[in-house]
Amino acid sequence: MAAACVSKAVLGVETSCDETGVAVYRHPDGLIAHRLYSQATMHAEFGGVVPELASRDHVRKLLPLVMATMADADLTLQQLGGVAYTAGPGLAGALLVGAGVACALAWALRIPAIGVHHMEGHLLAPLLETDPPAPPFVALLVSGGHSMLVHVRAVGDYELLGETLDDAAGEAFDKTAMLLGLPYPGGPALAALAEHGRPDAYAFTRPLLDRPGLDFSFSGLKTQVMLAWRRSDCSESVRADVAASFQAAVVETLVEKCRRALASVGSRRLVVAGGVGANRALRAALAEAGAHRGFRTWFPRPEFCTDNGAMIAHAGALRLAVGQHEDQSIRVHPRWPLESMVPLVA
Ligand code: KG4
Ligand code: ZN
Repeated sequence: MAAACVSKAVLGVETSCDETGVAVYRHPDGLIAHRLYSQATMHAEFGGVVPELASRDHVRKLLPLVMATMADADLTLQQLGGVAYTAGPGLAGALLVGAGVACALAWALRIPAIGVHHMEGHLLAPLLETDPPAPPFVALLVSGGHSMLVHVRAVGDYELLGETLDDAAGEAFDKTAMLLGLPYPGGPALAALAEHGRPDAYAFTRPLLDRPGLDFSFSGLKTQVMLAWRRSDCSESVRADVAASFQAAVVETLVEKCRRALASVGSRRLVVAGGVGANRALRAALAEAGAHRGFRTWFPRPEFCTDNGAMIAHAGALRLAVGQHEDQSIRVHPRWPLESMVPLVA
């Protein structure tokens, strides 16, 4: 196999759930091209992701998307220096599609394949932006499958500070949206509706804020929303008020836990990533809290908060630059603890 070449472009492939993402990243130029195909409309009729349908759609969409992204980048496959893919966590079948295509391309081109941890991709996504933060920092990872506070001592050196005890933040948004009869995917729909409601209309509890610790719990909040909604006249204004009050409870909880996490490790740098990081109310509340409490928050641009190929190409390029890559086997890890990652040292 050819030696890793840091100046060569890395193709990134994301297929862990219901988005097919492809991108090309080259150090030191940065992101050269990226494309995304969302399966959301296909899953909407079932009210959630159907794993088998997701895998089959990745099979249909991935290779054409790779070729289109390479054309955008104005590069041939032979000019690639590596192929990165999401190796986990995620849906096993969906992951295997990306891993299979990425490894086959890498073997054919005689270049390295790099298996990337999806959550590492997310938490390093703010580094794709101008004026990026340097570790150490605290990362709030809030997606459809995870809610975690992580102390990032260095790239690849992660300490879990807190996590959800039940639903992930994005999952709570999605389930609450479903209760309110909003279309799938629920998170963005609920956030849009909340903009028209009163955040103080319902006094939902701020879960676990009454005790120390950095873990989250969102399932009780969902039950409170259900009761408030069922006891109401189910009018449009009540729907917006419930959405706004739910969002306010989640946002206030996340902001307070971030503040505590920063204090616990003595940091003033916060990175927010994952789909819920696209939430406008959360972004505004963290900016405001930071201004008062003396910390700064970095976010990826909203399109790189949700799943995308750019974060995978970027994380893969960082690991390839220090010579880390897979051997000649196709491996995925549907469950993969973030703390088991190896630090980024040559
Ligand atoms: O990171 P992501 O794309 O996929 C996972 O790795 O899970 O996150 C998707 C999650 C979904 O639960 C979605 O409803 C939520 O992020 N989400 C939002 C917003 N945009 C996406 N939640 C609240 N407000 C948003 N604007
Ligand atoms: Zn994700």
